[in-house]
Amino acid sequence: MRSFNYDIPTKVYFGEGKIKYLPELIHTFGTKVLLTYGGGSIKRNGIYDEVQELLKDCEIIELSGIDPNPRIETVREGARLCKEHDIDVILAVGGGSTIDCSKVIAAAAKYDGDAWDLVMDGRLITDALPLVDILTLSATGTEMNTNGVITNFDVKLKKGTASYHTYPYASILDPTYTYTVPANQTSAGTADIMSHTLENYFQEEDNAFITDGLSETILRACIKYLPMALENPESYEARSNLMWASTMALNGLTSMGKGGGWTTHPIEHYLSAYYDITHAEGLAILTPRWMKYILSDKTVDRFVKYAQNVWNIEDSGDKFKMAEEAIEKTYQFFVDNGLPMTLPEVGIDSDEFFMEMAKGTEERLSRAYVPLNADDVVEILNRCMTE
Ligand code: NZQ
Ligand code: ZN
Repeated sequence: MRSFNYDIPTKVYFGEGKIKYLPELIHTFGTKVLLTYGGGSIKRNGIYDEVQELLKDCEIIELSGIDPNPRIETVREGARLCKEHDIDVILAVGGGSTIDCSKVIAAAAKYDGDAWDLVMDGRLITDALPLVDILTLSATGTEMNTNGVITNFDVKLKKGTASYHTYPYASILDPTYTYTVPANQTSAGTADIMSHTLENYFQEEDNAFITDGLSETILRACIKYLPMALENPESYEARSNLMWASTMALNGLTSMGKGGGWTTHPIEHYLSAYYDITHAEGLAILTPRWMKYILSDKTVDRFVKYAQNVWNIEDSGDKFKMAEEAIEKTYQFFVDNGLPMTLPEVGIDSDEFFMEMAKGTEERLSRAYVPLNADDVVEILNRCMTE
């Protein structure tokens, strides 16, 4: 097991009704609030009104319309509002896009140069406004991590930045706020949770038994609770377990004692930067193909562990058969839960940019569990064109 530092400063308020803590959390910093949100789901499901009621003594400036795959232009606008109104604290209400965008706004509000500098180099973030968030979609883990993923369509780049300063101060996680998440976003969000877990799970054999066990539990929770949430969107049991899975999958705990670079995320970020697709739909398409591509004598034992501990596949003595069955089950799980499983299904029907995108991933994928070069990535993308 590798050495690690554990330091996650975000306060978590988990459970129905935890929004009652919002006033005291906000008042810790003042009364001038930048309220950020997306395309309006929080108005339709009542969270917006609840926030306004609880913060009636605050001066609230709004930044709405944050897009899925949030854009650098929105970050710049948010930073401008913070500076102009001398904002004390940012309150982000929404999914990963709103919260990610708000993290970078928080940092850009304390930076004199252009916000894109901070995306390109997180080390330039030396301060940030405090951020409180109310999560409405279980997926990214942004509620308890430092990452802010921002897209600049001018240069076709979607990139994550991170700094200790961009941890949310506090996250309110009320599973009932996810009751209105539509089926496609519920499935995509769960695929994202699974992908974060798998990216950390598929690393060198490292004897990180506890961390791997946590990952296996998160994966089993996704497999158990996604169908339940789709069947009954107001199942508190399903929504609460998916919400905590989201947080646990990417707050650092599934990588403690482990290490190594990721694979499907760097590739997917290029797909989103070129085609503006839903993050986790890209991941669902890529994941089983990546798994198949890297299955070898070197990796097969890890796949066997995955097969037995996540998919309950019995030990037949044939390691490769068990591994292939686990990959097939992963693919079928995504199909059964309505995820698109080919690139044409998400609007990518040409291989025109495959090599260009693949070259962009090379540096990061040279550090992956199984290092891949641009030709490997093109081959994986080609395999994503058909079922
Ligand atoms: O914009 P609104 O109207 O709020 O609607 C959103 C949006 O259309 C809707 N939604 C969210 N909560 C809802 C709801 N609809 C009804 N009821 C609710 N309660 O869902 C749609 C998608 O929202 P979005 O925030 O884009 O989804 P997600 O949470 O999946 O975030 C995706 C973004 O996060 C990045 C992705 O790349 C992508 O840009 N990621 C962030 C990570 C991180 N910070 O650590 C890691 C991830 O790997 C990922 O890269
Ligand atoms: Zn992700």
